[in-house]
Amino acid sequence: MMTTEIYNSIEDEIKALKHKRNAVILAHNYQVGDIQDVADFTGDSLGLAQQAKKTNADVILFSGVVFMAETASILCPDKTVLIPDLDAGCSLAGMVRVEDIRRWKAEHRNGVVVAYVNTMAAVKAEADYCCTSTNAVRVVERIPADQEILFVPDFFLGTYVQRQTGRTNMTLWKGYCHVHDMINSEHLVRLKKKHPKAEIIMHPECGCLTKSIHYADRVLSTDGMIQYVQTSAAREFIVATETGILHRMVKDNPDKLFIPAFDQAVCHYMKQNTLEKLVLSLERMQYEVKVPEVIRVRALRPLERMLEMTSDAKSYQNKAC
Ligand code: 13P
Ligand code: SF4
Repeated sequence: MMTTEIYNSIEDEIKALKHKRNAVILAHNYQVGDIQDVADFTGDSLGLAQQAKKTNADVILFSGVVFMAETASILCPDKTVLIPDLDAGCSLAGMVRVEDIRRWKAEHRNGVVVAYVNTMAAVKAEADYCCTSTNAVRVVERIPADQEILFVPDFFLGTYVQRQTGRTNMTLWKGYCHVHDMINSEHLVRLKKKHPKAEIIMHPECGCLTKSIHYADRVLSTDGMIQYVQTSAAREFIVATETGILHRMVKDNPDKLFIPAFDQAVCHYMKQNTLEKLVLSLERMQYEVKVPEVIRVRALRPLERMLEMTSDAKSYQNKAC
């Protein structure tokens, strides 16, 4: 006879299922607030990869987008990695293909490829190094100065890295995130006029970063932002990234004011995940993300290089402009 448990709340149900499956829930900073609240760890791409690598759980329920779940699968082949919705893609990750990288490599025999973590596993498999928004500057700084670099796929992050490192032998792919592209410098100027004491913090994927860099107080990864607003003496912040990040900022700092640079900067891919889908995921063990072994072993090298090169990196290493 089948028994149906009665739970007081969906959060309790998730807790029980997590226990039953020996699962850990990893959530990105752009997830809806109620998912962030049930997650065991909420963080940025680097932090989530590091957590995946060190967990003892049998199952990683990755509440983020597919390329992030793939990264967990590459790093932890013995774990079952689940994502609540396979439609949680990423416009940026879709902007560079394996053939594009192969063509560049054929034309630049001594060049190396740096792939932002927002790429699919097959693209990572063609790369020499991976990086995240936290450590992109540091990874590029450590590549010998005479080596040509192809940086994929984010043009704006690439431009920022080029500016910070002063490197001239970098080819930048012209990909972009459609969400960060919605935020423009006029939004920042208008909000700064209204809140003159507010600090402006920007994600390096922002399309207006070059134009706005002189107003930006800090350029940071999502976790870098979360940590920075806690330590800064400022009371008000204009936050130039996806709006999901405000949940934790407000929760951790109830006495501070957080203003989204653009309130429609919402990633519908990230928002595919819901608490109900988390329940289904753990109940039915769906949807498994498993990177084929031939790709996994090749994609692991650039990821491990990145993790080794930046094991001591702080999320908010990226100083302002
Ligand atoms: P972070 O690694 O800074 O969280 O960025 C991931 C991302 O997808 C930003 O759009
Ligand atoms: Fe991709 Fe942009 Fe969404 Fe981040 S915010 S997951 S880069 S589409």
